[in-house]
Amino acid sequence: MNNTMDNALYIRHLETLLQRYRIASSQFQLDTIVIGAGSLSHYFEDDNAHPFKPFAAAQQWLPFTLPAGSFIVIKQDKPELIWPAQQDFWHMANAIPEGEWQSHWRITPVNDDSWTQSLSSNSAFIGPDAIGSLTHHHGLMTWLNYDRAIKTDYEIACLETANQIAAKGHIAAQQAFLSGASELQTHLAYLDATQQDAISTPYPNIVGINEHAAVLHYEQKSSQRPFRPLTLLVDAGASHHGYASDITRTTTTLNDEFSALLDDMDILQQSIANQAVAGVAFVELHQKTLHGVAHLLKQHDICSLSIEEQLAKQIPHHFYPHGLGHFLGLQVHDVGGRQLDATGTLQNPPAGSPFLRLTRDLVPNMVITVEPGLYFIPMLLEKLKAQQPKHGCNINKIDRLTPYGGIRIEDNIVVDIEGIRNLTRDAFATLS
Ligand code: GLY
Ligand code: MN
Ligand code: MN
Repeated sequence: MNNTMDNALYIRHLETLLQRYRIASSQFQLDTIVIGAGSLSHYFEDDNAHPFKPFAAAQQWLPFTLPAGSFIVIKQDKPELIWPAQQDFWHMANAIPEGEWQSHWRITPVNDDSWTQSLSSNSAFIGPDAIGSLTHHHGLMTWLNYDRAIKTDYEIACLETANQIAAKGHIAAQQAFLSGASELQTHLAYLDATQQDAISTPYPNIVGINEHAAVLHYEQKSSQRPFRPLTLLVDAGASHHGYASDITRTTTTLNDEFSALLDDMDILQQSIANQAVAGVAFVELHQKTLHGVAHLLKQHDICSLSIEEQLAKQIPHHFYPHGLGHFLGLQVHDVGGRQLDATGTLQNPPAGSPFLRLTRDLVPNMVITVEPGLYFIPMLLEKLKAQQPKHGCNINKIDRLTPYGGIRIEDNIVVDIEGIRNLTRDAFATLS
């Protein structure tokens, strides 16, 4: 995306946001909406601050990272950015970023909160801190979250860039692992290739070798490479203007029964991803994936029961215990995934899949992840054996595969009418 294109997309994005906020203002009979980015918080009894991440509903408005203490004010005229003018020689001053965006904003540098005194009584606030007597307006937030599922072209371009950055990291991580790196070294190779540090990545990198690949949110990074490295699972993203990528790749060092399973999971993942088109119920796609996992368990002699029997006994659910995917945007698990309308009616996930975060039907310009997995998680397999004596599972083969941990393959997809755009596979293709 070049700068001119970037700016044209940004202006259209801003118009869309203003339109959404105008409709919300009319719905809630407001003349002003204030959005707070949030303020710094500190570790308990410590003068060190937690890493700051601006509140997504504020960050959505601007093409650079918002500082703590900034606010967006939306009225009928130009949007206003309230900017904290820093009076502190300990830290770098918050310079207001240069750029064409400035011509679309009123910019008000402030040293205190006296600007809030001019807010009308018909104002609402969304954000983590109260301003005066105004506290976070949940109904308004819910209304706005519903539309946030539909990404503007600017947002899709940001997500595309976040994928391009992360794909470089994944290639470097895989090369490091294959050249003898530990989890920690693999993680550092990822960060170096993306040129983003660990507090800029959208979530803590998951870098698991062998059994650690079976820990869904494994966040440790061992500096000891195991004696027999078999598998590497990296679930890691990158950020661009606050937008996240969320990509997982699984690599193995051998050509064996695990790599055969990995190859077939890749085929299943791509088949499911390509079906994520407008009009499809994501819940149905999740159920299809469970069906696909049952098929793989049978095909690879891990479970001898028929697909129907496996599903009736919820056997695939023990190998694939999480949901197929979620919305992706400014938040990795972006908002509104179970929201059926702007007023907040919820659709819960189906029985047996309590962790499915997305239950809406797909419409164009939703951006989602598609991330099926197949793991050998001792805790879940023990539960299966205890609860389901007629499980039909090949325990010898499971014992052989447990040291490999498991498989997850995760791509970021833009939903469209006729097909999809796979931002992740496109990003890897440009690098190969
Ligand atoms: N990286 C977290 C997830 O895939 O949902
Ligand atoms: Mn994900
Ligand atoms: Mn992920």
